[in-house]
Amino acid sequence: MSTVNPAAASIDWEALRTAAVEAMSHAYVPYSKFPVGAAALVDDGRIVSGCNVENASYGVTLCAECGLVSALAMSGGGHLVAFTCVDGDGATLMPCGRCRQLLYEHSADGMLLETVSGIKTIDQVLPDAFGPRQLAAYAAEHENDGTGTQA
Ligand code: THU
Repeated sequence: MSTVNPAAASIDWEALRTAAVEAMSHAYVPYSKFPVGAAALVDDGRIVSGCNVENASYGVTLCAECGLVSALAMSGGGHLVAFTCVDGDGATLMPCGRCRQLLYEHSADGMLLETVSGIKTIDQVLPDAFGPRQLAAYAAEHENDGTGTQA
């Protein structure tokens, strides 16, 4: 029996998928020919999206999620409540490892993701994550010991 997250029912996943497919139509993918679109609901109700943008220097490629978090910051910030990602066929795609980290940074508590194995939380797709809290805790602990300061 699969567990259904009750919060998932209140999300308009269809609207998010539509926004992701629209974003995917803008992908710049001359090298992989693998367009990706991502869309997310922000905690103030707006929807942000992004597409992948490749580069002749392959490693410089920007994943769709990079565009999405950039759009989030540019349009006023906030936290991501729900997220979906699609490939060129409109099929659900898992965010790559690096992008899970990108999303984690901007996630609302309990952020939901549509995945290939159902709706999951950000903590399920990036368990025991490293994030802003670790930096803040370390900084607080070492506030007075001079660690990291110039002589
Ligand atoms: N890609 C994304 O945009 N997001 C992901 O989470 C997975 C991979 C892109 C990067 C590259 O342009 C193409 O998919 C093939 O790897």
